[in-house]
Amino acid sequence: MFTPFDRSVHEALGFGLLLAGFLGGASLGLGFLREGFLGGYGSPRRRLVRLAHIAAVALGLVNLEFARSGAAADGLASLGFALGAVAMPFACLCVAWTKRLYLVFALPVLALVLAAGSALKGVLA
Ligand code: HEM
Repeated sequence: MFTPFDRSVHEALGFGLLLAGFLGGASLGLGFLREGFLGGYGSPRRRLVRLAHIAAVALGLVNLEFARSGAAADGLASLGFALGAVAMPFACLCVAWTKRLYLVFALPVLALVLAAGSALKGVLA
């Protein structure tokens, strides 16, 4: 049903997200020693911005690994890992900005769960 992206797309996405994650971490690093930075270490905004940083790095690694795996031929997994990897850090930043956008998390969560499920089904088949 879904045509998988070329492996090079997942590789470019992987390294692009690593770069974005590192730059995001460096930006956090400019203020993280300041007591009240982004509302303080435990504030929802600070936690969500931190989560965006972690999600970009982790999902970048997931896409690089996916590009090298046998599951890379799976169209649904390819679409889900690509879409979910871009949408998750964005969802974190949107909700860090305003909690009213909480439901935007539904897109990356659904995309990543479907991707992992489809890849697993393919590997076990
Ligand atoms: C150039 C590379 C990186 C920079 C500049 C960076 C910077 C930061 C900074 C400044 C924080 C603290 C944020 C805060 O206090 O709110 C942080 C937290 C974190 N980073 Fe990174 N980071 C980098 C790479 C990575 C990598 C490669 C990983 C994992 C694979 C990672 C995982 C985490 C995690 C899990 C936290 C949360 C730690 C905690 O609970 O306080 N970071 N990073």
